[in-house]
Amino acid sequence: ANFELESAYLERDKLLGRLKTVISLADELLESRESTQEQFLSHILEKALYEIPTADYGSISVTEGGVWKFVCTAGHNIEKLNKLNLKSHMMVLVPEVSVVEDWNKINQVSMNQNTYEQFSSAVKPVKSSLVAPLRTDKGQIGNLALDIAKESKEIFSSNDIEVMRAFASLTSVFLKLHEYERTKKDISEQIIFAMVRMMELYDNYTKGHSMRVAKIASEIGRLMSLSEHTIKNLYWTGLVHDIGKLLIPKRILNKKDALSDEEYEIVKKHTVWGYEVLNSSPILQEIAVYVLHHHEHWDGTGYPDHLENDRIELVSRIISVADSFEAMISDRAYRKAFSVEYAFSEIESCSGSQFDSAVVRVFVYNKHRILERGSERELR
Ligand SMILES: [Fe+2]
Repeated sequence: ANFELESAYLERDKLLGRLKTVISLADELLESRESTQEQFLSHILEKALYEIPTADYGSISVTEGGVWKFVCTAGHNIEKLNKLNLKSHMMVLVPEVSVVEDWNKINQVSMNQNTYEQFSSAVKPVKSSLVAPLRTDKGQIGNLALDIAKESKEIFSSNDIEVMRAFASLTSVFLKLHEYERTKKDISEQIIFAMVRMMELYDNYTKGHSMRVAKIASEIGRLMSLSEHTIKNLYWTGLVHDIGKLLIPKRILNKKDALSDEEYEIVKKHTVWGYEVLNSSPILQEIAVYVLHHHEHWDGTGYPDHLENDRIELVSRIISVADSFEAMISDRAYRKAFSVEYAFSEIESCSGSQFDSAVVRVFVYNKHRILERGSERELR
């Protein structure tokens, strides 16, 4: 059992490291906007192969104007591939990150004999591939693929698939930014959206939760006449507050029965894990500590640091109210949603114990505005 526990910790450490890599790429994306598309995508491919060592080769390819073009490859011969004049319809379409076992058969069907032969001579022999669709507003415009060599004994693990998802959403964001180049979209926000979507894919029951917490929390900030900077921090903290849940095993996260003490301790860790992941990014560092303290209670009975009163950052105190409220009015793995009236009265009854009474006062006094913001259901 000890061994099992130890290997679970190792796995989680590994996943934490992998997520840090994705976030550091997001930072680079922000800092090196001048670098060419090819440079950045090669960089992503290199990191993906490094973080998913199960794979031996890889490629990023896109379709444009009816042509299927390889942007970068590892192992495969890119010059040869791009000379083949491949057509868009030859690219494999997958709705989700998938393991594809029979590349060859698919290619044989979509290509004529001559193209198929040349294609086969340009790529290394592959046993199976992990293929992630790259999407922009135009739909699926490419693939990120990692391949296991024919002779290899390895197979892709479920962790590999989670990490691949993260790399694919980051790559999609990058491609989207290129499409949008001239619109004034906030890049950092796009990247955070990608990360949040990634998390919500992982936890079935939080779809849209983060965005609604972000909206409610920033609305409270506005009602409290806080600075624009703080309101922005409230919004971003709301979006990423549960990012550390990515490191909680799925079986605990989506469990329908009561959690054991041990399991609950693991769930509580999402605050610290979220802090660690965000703190590794110079851009998100500022809000890392707000994430760390979003489960602290006004009376000191919260976690992880048991802080009291205004030792807890105001942003965290506001997130705490917004988070609890939103959670109560949504369905969860283990229960149905509570009514809005019940949720408001619960928040009020915990004023001064769990929650900062100054925040609760503003919150309860402005029921309508809060509900209006919180009921905008869609992410983005
Ligand atoms: Fe949380």
